[in-house]
Amino acid sequence: MSRTYSDFLDDFAAMSSFGSTDGGGVDRQAGTAEDHGTRRWFGQWLTRHGYTEAVDEAGNQFGTIELVPGAPYVLLGSHLDSQPLAGRYDGAYGVLAAATAGSIVGAEARAGKVNPVYNIAVVNWFNEEGSRFAPSMMGSSVFTGKLALEDALATTDHSGTTVTKALAGGHLLPDGSALTLTNVARYAEIHIEQGRNLEESGTQVGVVDRTWAASKFRVTVDGAQSHTGATRMEDRRDALYGAALLIAAARELAAEFEPGLLHTSVSELYVLPNSPVTIARQVTMNLDLRSPDEDVLARAVDLLGKWAGEASDRSGTDVRMELTHQWGLVPYQPEGVALGIASAERLGFTHTNIMTVAGHDSTNMKDVVPTVMLFVPSVEGISHNEAEYTRDEDALRGVELLTEVTRRLLQGDMG
Ligand code: GLV
Ligand code: MN
Ligand code: MN
Repeated sequence: MSRTYSDFLDDFAAMSSFGSTDGGGVDRQAGTAEDHGTRRWFGQWLTRHGYTEAVDEAGNQFGTIELVPGAPYVLLGSHLDSQPLAGRYDGAYGVLAAATAGSIVGAEARAGKVNPVYNIAVVNWFNEEGSRFAPSMMGSSVFTGKLALEDALATTDHSGTTVTKALAGGHLLPDGSALTLTNVARYAEIHIEQGRNLEESGTQVGVVDRTWAASKFRVTVDGAQSHTGATRMEDRRDALYGAALLIAAARELAAEFEPGLLHTSVSELYVLPNSPVTIARQVTMNLDLRSPDEDVLARAVDLLGKWAGEASDRSGTDVRMELTHQWGLVPYQPEGVALGIASAERLGFTHTNIMTVAGHDSTNMKDVVPTVMLFVPSVEGISHNEAEYTRDEDALRGVELLTEVTRRLLQGDMG
């Protein structure tokens, strides 16, 4: 059965009931019961709409429609996992848009309205968010050979649960039939912008032409555990004080550069022993630096290294910074951008080229196959928040655009 655009909103509402929160968002971190519930629902959706479902060892969930036996696939997708207490649209919008577009174009191909040279596949990448299991974009990193499967599977969350264990609770286990990179000819993804450029400029759709660069660190501050009251101030080696200095330094670092050239944050903190009458012996935290200019990012990392040294001296602690994930300011293929623009023009949608600040699974895929990445507007740019919202008309316009892109990719446009 093929989908129509109007079914999309009902399906999206049904999908958003999994892990739904009181504030209108969702909470379904990778491999939790809520994520598995969404995956099961999506698997049933795929089967009902003529896809064959399979999962790979890294937890990526695929649906395939074979039109040209033996031909490679046009792969469409995004992710169904979310940050804690997050919005409904980040990732999930793109997965359902992909499945809908694939279903519509598959039916058109079967009816002889398009001439496919490829097959159609959709994917729900496992653990794009990286909130429970770091790094982010885990499933697509394994799929593209950037992360070893064993390393991904051995990753633990903060309670010590491994990815292997979290995946074992799924409705479908890998049987070797899932798609691999060698079978993929093209990739396309649609996502909410998570910023407010499209909304502010009154533009209907964005065609992503580059990513911001990102460097993510794990920071460990080691001090000495002692009594909060009895220890003399000059004797203290307070790990939380060292961490606080570094958090403030990271925030202030942005002011060293032109506005808009550097985004920095520490957003996760673990304190040991985290007790009211005991000075912290260790703090571990993340550090996330992003820039639309690789030189700025390199200078920022350098400067922060120096400031970390000062924080360490002032607090009497040891500060270690370990690079855990990074990507550069890499362009998306110009042919993919041109195809996105031609599709938007064919549909009469206003469009603009746009950079993505957030990482996406397409950030991995574009390095290995020709890729098209599209954005729809986010109201007020709010994201990773229950209030994340994309208007229905914008969401539907995006599904229509992805469908047109799929049609073109399937027929061999873009070479
Ligand atoms: C996404 O995973 C990001 O880090 O932006
Ligand atoms: Mn996302
Ligand atoms: Mn996200």
